Amino acid sequence: MTEVGTTGSAAQRLDRDDPLAHTRDRFELPSGLIYLEGNSLGALPCGVKERVADVVTREWGHDLYASWNTAGWSDLPERVAAKIAPLVGADADEVIVADSTSVNLFNLLAAAVRARPDRRVVVVEPTTFPTDGYIAASVARTFDRELRWCDPEDPLAAVDADTAVVCLTHVDFRTGRKYDETAITAGVHAAGALMLWDLCHTTGAVPFDLHAIDADLAVGCSYKYLNGGSGAPAYSFVARRLHAQLDHPVTGWWGHAEPFAMQRDFTPRTGIGRLRVGTAPLLSLVALDTALDAFEGVDLALLRAKSLSLTGRFIDLVQAHTDLEVVTPLDPQRRGSQVSLRHPQAFGLVRALSARGVVGDFRTPDIARFGFAPLYVRHVDVDAAVEQLVAVLDGAEFARPEYAVRQSVT
Ligand SMILES: Cc1ncc(COP(=O)(O)O)c(C=O)c1O
Repeated sequence: MTEVGTTGSAAQRLDRDDPLAHTRDRFELPSGLIYLEGNSLGALPCGVKERVADVVTREWGHDLYASWNTAGWSDLPERVAAKIAPLVGADADEVIVADSTSVNLFNLLAAAVRARPDRRVVVVEPTTFPTDGYIAASVARTFDRELRWCDPEDPLAAVDADTAVVCLTHVDFRTGRKYDETAITAGVHAAGALMLWDLCHTTGAVPFDLHAIDADLAVGCSYKYLNGGSGAPAYSFVARRLHAQLDHPVTGWWGHAEPFAMQRDFTPRTGIGRLRVGTAPLLSLVALDTALDAFEGVDLALLRAKSLSLTGRFIDLVQAHTDLEVVTPLDPQRRGSQVSLRHPQAFGLVRALSARGVVGDFRTPDIARFGFAPLYVRHVDVDAAVEQLVAVLDGAEFARPEYAVRQSVT
């Protein structure tokens, strides 16, 4: 293993032999910055600025309303969804881009509850990203169902013949632990329930084959490993076999079979398009559309191999050179594309690292999180990040008063 301090030749060799080394050039990264925050806000892909500027100046600024038809604004959500579909093992007509993950969670959880009218229970995981729990609780309240928190280590133990739907996040936002999607989906199906996967920390870094596991429902965001920019719209997946029975509650005019027929009553589009709600956020959508080109020609098996190589190296170096607790599973089969470290002053640690040019983030109460976006993070970045981490620890820089002040986003 490379000695921290040499930013070493072993890492350079790994990067030289990396079949995905070229994809880093598809991003505009500030020079000198080690960006390990792609699990929160992905980096800026090349071409996005120009595309957004063109849409603003030409399509919006000059062509104005005509662009709805001449620039194809109206079916952009479907076209962007078609680029996401292969990243999650789905067909293009099973994915739609719309709204936020939170809104899509509400729509799909409610539709799932309606699809299982004789079952009372919605199962969700208590340590999941909070919005999933908030939304599941609201769905349970709205539809007079029971919310059941499962054991994060054994979610299937909470699933029984009264379960309508189970909602789990595939890769945990706090720990980076990855569930076995095949076994869990099969277990949920064996109980006759529907399974909804939250793929926010999966898509774009960890392959997930929705067809292979006979998945029912999924949601995911597009501003993390898909690099669509903050607030870029999320996506929903619904297996084709469920489209006809999908009765979702947020029925907006863009989900209507004929939005411009302006009919009084809601008639859903056939297929996934019924999950569109209101007017799509054009500028975010075009940014995402161009951002997804960064995945062109990328073999997802290679993406996973690179991700594991980066996280594995980071874990090895942290364990060799610090006494920090690695919270993320050491077993590569059980981790996503981030590594979380525990430290009593994790907030100060992250701030001190940031001052040294290494960007990670803090999750309360004591987690320092580092995301490894395999399209643009290199092995030399891993070595350099640990080198800075050791310096922060050696100098107790995490305890400096200026790093104790919390900002609104941590
Ligand atoms: C696992 C997970 N689910 C849901 C969300 C919320 O997504 P949104 O802000 O698009 O509603 C996040 C946000 O980071 C997340 O990490």
